[in-house]
Amino acid sequence: MRITRLILGCGNFGGVGSAPAFFGKGESRDEAFVLMDAAWEAGIRTFDTADAYGGGRSETWIGDWLRTKGADVRDSIVLSTKTFNPMGEGEDRGLAPARVKRQLESSLQRLGVERVDMVLTHAWDDDVPIAETAGALDELVADGKVGAYGLSNVDGAQLRDALAAGAFGWVQNSYSLLDREPEQEVLPLCAERGLGFTPFSPLAGGWLTGKYRRGEEAPPGSRMTTRPEPYLHLRDEAVYRGLDGLAAAAAERGVSPAALAIAWLLADPRVTGVVVGPRRPDQLEPPLAALGVELGEDERDALTGLFG
Ligand SMILES: NC(=O)c1ccc[n+]([C@@H]2O[C@H](COP(=O)([O-])OP(=O)(O)OC[C@H]3O[C@@H](n4cnc5c(N)ncnc54)[C@H](OP(=O)(O)O)[C@@H]3O)[C@@H](O)[C@H]2O)c1
Repeated sequence: MRITRLILGCGNFGGVGSAPAFFGKGESRDEAFVLMDAAWEAGIRTFDTADAYGGGRSETWIGDWLRTKGADVRDSIVLSTKTFNPMGEGEDRGLAPARVKRQLESSLQRLGVERVDMVLTHAWDDDVPIAETAGALDELVADGKVGAYGLSNVDGAQLRDALAAGAFGWVQNSYSLLDREPEQEVLPLCAERGLGFTPFSPLAGGWLTGKYRRGEEAPPGSRMTTRPEPYLHLRDEAVYRGLDGLAAAAAERGVSPAALAIAWLLADPRVTGVVVGPRRPDQLEPPLAALGVELGEDERDALTGLFG
């Protein structure tokens, strides 16, 4: 599969991820179009979405955007979607085979395509044996509706179970200088079994840009003012010290801290591509700059060490 090293995360189109409370918020359709245009111009050819992002708006707007383009664009974009989360308050969720197939059909409709390149399970479902989910995904592959499938938000034990049950070829977990959990089990397992690994939240929700400073209010409109809950633990002196070190290392190289943080990910041979989440075209600059930063193993280790 032709995954570009940068993947456009479309999780903010019409919402903030899959949280129903934010459906209809996030980037507008026009803003999403501007971002997709900018990503295309920059050579990004892989888009990451999910059925529930923005309550369906993310997939719908990607489909709308693709329809405005010629075959050259439509045939070049690799589409990756996910399923698990409810499409709205009180709606069903999970990885039951019938639901997976129904949701995939609805994703194809919203995206306006006959096939997506990749489908990921968006979360683990304790109520459905993973072999049953894999069976449904195998059928979708056999029907030509899905190119390949994988898992998101899994731990090592879940990944091992899934690999024993089906042809899962990809993992998408949170991974960054501020979230190194995958190093414990998931990354080594992906390497050992030849799976692709495409981390999300490479900037820890914006923290690795250095925009959040000790003792200061979060910038107006930033994620720490809209959906701070997943990142509250980062308001910690050790994190601020690490960010100071990252800023100094970035200044020495003449790049932004965000670029260096993404370069740190790209320098790991186990990382296939990084799912970035810009809200405006200018926020694409750090990931693009990161492509030009070469980090040796020692330099990468030194950056890792900044965060303990
Ligand atoms: N599989 C999953 O469960 C899962 C979960 C989360 C995300 N994802 C995917 O991964 C994508 C990226 O995740 P993420 O949004 O958490 O990534 P991230 O890169 O860690 O955070 C993105 C946020 O950082 C801020 N930011 C980005 N570039 C910036 C820059 N140059 N200067 C200042 N601030 C900047 C923006 O926040 P502000 O709002 O503060 O401007 C942006 O919303 C999502 O769109 C989605 O496709 C998948």
